[in-house]
Amino acid sequence: MTVTKSTGRIPEGTTASNENQRLATLLQISQALSSTLNLKTGLHDVLETLARQHGIDRSLIALKTEDGPQLHVEAAHGLSRPAHHIGYTIGEGIIGKVVESGKAAIVPKASKEPSLLFRATPRHEAIAEEFTFICVPIAIDRRTVGALGVSLAYKPDRHYDRSANFFGVLASMIGQALKVQRLVAAEHARLVDENAHLRQELKERYDFSAIIGNSGAMRRVYELVAQVARTNTTVLIRGESGTGKELIAHAIHYNSPRAKKPFVKVSCGALPETLIESELFGYEKGAFTGAQARKKGRFELAEGGTLFLDEIGDVHLSTQIKLLRVLQEREFERLGGTDTQKVNVRLIAATNKDMEAAIAQGTFREDLFYRLNVFMIFLPPLRERKPDVLLLADHFLQRFAVEHGKSIKRISTPAIDMLMAYHWPGNARELQNVIERAVLVCDERVIHAHHLPPTLQTAEASGTVVSVSLDDAIGAYEKDLLQDALKSARGNRARAARLLRTTDRIFNYKVRKLGIDWKRFKQ
Ligand SMILES: Nc1ncnc2c1ncn2[C@@H]1O[C@H](COP(=O)(O)OP(=O)(O)OP(=O)(O)O)[C@@H](O)[C@H]1O
Ligand SMILES: [Mg+2]
Repeated sequence: MTVTKSTGRIPEGTTASNENQRLATLLQISQALSSTLNLKTGLHDVLETLARQHGIDRSLIALKTEDGPQLHVEAAHGLSRPAHHIGYTIGEGIIGKVVESGKAAIVPKASKEPSLLFRATPRHEAIAEEFTFICVPIAIDRRTVGALGVSLAYKPDRHYDRSANFFGVLASMIGQALKVQRLVAAEHARLVDENAHLRQELKERYDFSAIIGNSGAMRRVYELVAQVARTNTTVLIRGESGTGKELIAHAIHYNSPRAKKPFVKVSCGALPETLIESELFGYEKGAFTGAQARKKGRFELAEGGTLFLDEIGDVHLSTQIKLLRVLQEREFERLGGTDTQKVNVRLIAATNKDMEAAIAQGTFREDLFYRLNVFMIFLPPLRERKPDVLLLADHFLQRFAVEHGKSIKRISTPAIDMLMAYHWPGNARELQNVIERAVLVCDERVIHAHHLPPTLQTAEASGTVVSVSLDDAIGAYEKDLLQDALKSARGNRARAARLLRTTDRIFNYKVRKLGIDWKRFKQ
């Protein structure tokens, strides 16, 4: 056996016809490797080309397994045993040594070589006729990852080095293809991972746990969502601005059998009348000036999933007719197109408008309204579900404290009173904004009344007593401070007094005077 360092060059001096044939082979092989996404098929094509063009009856490509010292046969041609039954160990036999050393090996006469293993074809079969075995390493970034082994008919006048160099070039092409394939596979795995992660995040963000509120009204809403999510029924969500209609639309989608398909939103109110139809239905190339290529509409993008038509009350009458047709027949045409598109989409619509009034005024089609209003979910305004105010405030406090890196733990009693007294015309969205602002301006561990915006401070807004005496106001503030300290000290009055930098005697006097039940804070 001769061991040569593979240089990857075809030496000069080969006969012209030989060289032409080799160049033609290299060209075919580079096409075989680049024209398929499945590298295994490409490698098979490579070995078949060698058989066809160069009469190489037996060949194989062995690659290192991910971990461990094993080599497996990735592609083979003309072997008597099935490829998946053949295995080598690094360092073992000719192929194993080539992978270990990264150097090509040439065996001019196979019958004379004791280290040939004859794993792929039994010895008696293989050397029925004498043959030459050439094995070259396959490398990625100079790291050997496998080997190409070929058996050639024995010819005493063969230029072994030239042949080895030719196969060396071939092996480097295979190495390059492997590198690309591994990069693509790694990127694909990363994307699959990222996708799974994002889906999970979306699901968590929009499943029931993201919707806060356990007032009776909200519990009824959850029941309706659970009921309707399993079905394909069109849902109309109604409620004032900021009551969480979009949140509920997401919850329906992510709890439905369509959860893994797209959730596509169209803000009907935000789109000008001229744009909404092309957004919804898409257009064909040349449908209007500027339509340079076909564009899919949101209906098509939501195929298999859910289309959320937000602010449906703002849709113009001419678009309403088209929507009615999609709802009735589940089909439409792209703008400027004649082909009818079938769609499998679940529709959810939302509005904060008084639809009955719109119908009476003739700005909303009654037939479309009935098609949309198959299953209605009404979100009550926040002022009608007072128990949720506290839950939501706590939820937003935790979220924004983390987001803005503050260690605020709770909301003081007077601040809670103000939150409870306010009528929340902007509903949960307004509460969310109020708490975020409070978190931003608060540098303590507790949100106090003065951290809340002026709209909540006014007597009219909070509905608090108009005439309050200075003594009462100070008393209420003192009581709040004492209770806060007792909470922090877990009912230990001496410690609470120290927290407020006062004496035990004064602290106990005030506790009695203000009628605070200090035992309540013991834990
Ligand atoms: N029950 C709730 N739990 C948690 N967050 C809520 C809840 N209700 C509303 N929110 C939050 O309040 C904000 C407003 O909610 P959403 O956008 O769903 O309201 P909407 O009803 O669609 O309002 P609009 O009619 O103005 O579009 C969102 O950031 C949402 O996360
Ligand atoms: Mg909305």
